[in-house]
Amino acid sequence: MSALRLALIGFGTVGQGLARILADRGADLRERYGLDVRITAVADLRCGSVHAADGLDPARLLAAAGADGTFDAVDAEDRGWDALTTIREAQADVVAELAFTDLATGEPALTHVRTALEHGRHVITTNKGPVALAWPELAATARRRGVRLEAEGTVMSGTPALHLGAELLAGAGVTRIEGILNGTTNYVLTRMEAGADFGEALAEAQAEGYAEADPSGDVEGIDAAGKVVILANRVMGAELTMADVAREGIAGLTRADVEAAAAAGERWKLIGRVERDGQTVRASVAPRRVPATHPLASVGGATNAVTYTTELLGDVTLIGPGAGKLATGYALIADLLAIHRATGGAA
Ligand code: HSE
Repeated sequence: MSALRLALIGFGTVGQGLARILADRGADLRERYGLDVRITAVADLRCGSVHAADGLDPARLLAAAGADGTFDAVDAEDRGWDALTTIREAQADVVAELAFTDLATGEPALTHVRTALEHGRHVITTNKGPVALAWPELAATARRRGVRLEAEGTVMSGTPALHLGAELLAGAGVTRIEGILNGTTNYVLTRMEAGADFGEALAEAQAEGYAEADPSGDVEGIDAAGKVVILANRVMGAELTMADVAREGIAGLTRADVEAAAAAGERWKLIGRVERDGQTVRASVAPRRVPATHPLASVGGATNAVTYTTELLGDVTLIGPGAGKLATGYALIADLLAIHRATGGAA
């Protein structure tokens, strides 16, 4: 069994979540699934960067980041490389792109992903920016270079929405995708049903860590729109951009709206929707009143859910976390396992 050598670009919450899982479950992943992951490089703006071809101990990296916030005490062959040098020079089969990004330019994550693919590295990422803005281009580069681009954590964190839709339901004829794809807004709407006002509920979501750094991205449906684009492109083979998504957020909803829905046995949900109509794929994000019998109606708090409507199975619904350190770290394990299986363990 050859090790899968991994370079981490970014060692914030998600990178540390991945390192935690590898420290705690690395032996189990090796023994049960034949997945032997060796972190050979980490480049982080805060902690610094380290490279060691024989591997860096994930527990040691976590301890260093937790102690003085730097990798100064970590044994390494090379230090001080920036992200692009690490992507180009590290002894690595896979680059995990976990730096920051946005849904306007996708940078700097987009350049990191492009560079890694061009250099023949497999890429795994939890960053929505590059995947929502440039999936067709990046997927074509990955095919040309004979490597994989996996991004399970961009939609519903480690809840396997993308692998379910794109791989496990392949051939079932997915005609529609509907989901609660943003935890912050679902949390806010759930709290409003319990009597909280909008601002109070949003402040709670920020305190719980669900909201983006700028919560207007959540409230206005931009985060959900990014996920809708990713689902449309990855699962339905569309080539949508953010501009193709008809988008409305939840800022216009009042307590009175929420109470009126409840009186009618309904709930407001921010629904991301993708529909195939012949050769056309249409996408939207909008608050919708759903009846209590709808599979997404019972999904409360920050939980996410997606329903795939298929020709052969009817509706298939998946419910689970959409954010969180270990939940998102696990998405990267799922991506590594997908690469491991696709390459027959020879990546
Ligand atoms: N801000 C996002 C949410 C985090 O609330 O769902 C996960 O993408």
